[in-house]
Amino acid sequence: MLVTIEGALDPETVAALRAELAAGEAWVDGRVTAGHQGAAVKRNQQIEEGSQTARRCGALVLAALERHAHFISAALPNVVYPPMFNRYGVGMTFGEHVDGAVRIDPHTGRKLRTDISATLFLSDPDAYDGGVLEIADTYGVHGVKSGAGDLVLYPATSLHQVTPVTRGERLASFFWIQSLVRDDGRRTLLYEMDAAIQELNRTGTEGGACRSLTGVYHNLLRLWSEP
Ligand code: NI
Repeated sequence: MLVTIEGALDPETVAALRAELAAGEAWVDGRVTAGHQGAAVKRNQQIEEGSQTARRCGALVLAALERHAHFISAALPNVVYPPMFNRYGVGMTFGEHVDGAVRIDPHTGRKLRTDISATLFLSDPDAYDGGVLEIADTYGVHGVKSGAGDLVLYPATSLHQVTPVTRGERLASFFWIQSLVRDDGRRTLLYEMDAAIQELNRTGTEGGACRSLTGVYHNLLRLWSEP
């Protein structure tokens, strides 16, 4: 499923990240982390992995997401890859590709299976033209260009691209998540069930049925989750 979490980062955190990235001197050619398929179509810049800028900014993003209920419900995160940061100036693009299935965490050396791809928008959409994240699934191609602070999650199995920027600059953070539930269909069912339970709680429709439904949610999560 494709989920947009609006306001995943508050405006103050977005501003702090933008200031830190603007001052950062660690911008490198984005192809340093691309695989063979990606390198041929990738033309952007990113903050060097392991740099002080990457560590400080990544920690800000992770701190915000760790306590974000909507993110946790949608992603059911097990391991989150240290967030990276990219920049597309005029003429920059990242053509159609599928993200690699396994990444090695640069800090711990541990392998992470990429179940979910994440893009966190850091530029206002009216600050640039082009730069649309286009994600293909069985229902067609979806163009995403969301507000600063919004987070987009989509299955890492998806073919996707970032169209060329024709004006301005597009800043974003991107990373991957190994989910407790690797199957996108199962994760979608749990996400929808959790949303329904939250709605019942909000509207005060409590009682045995709601408790039973909550129990089913946790028992399905227990059944489907894996380390
Ligand atoms: Ni990608």
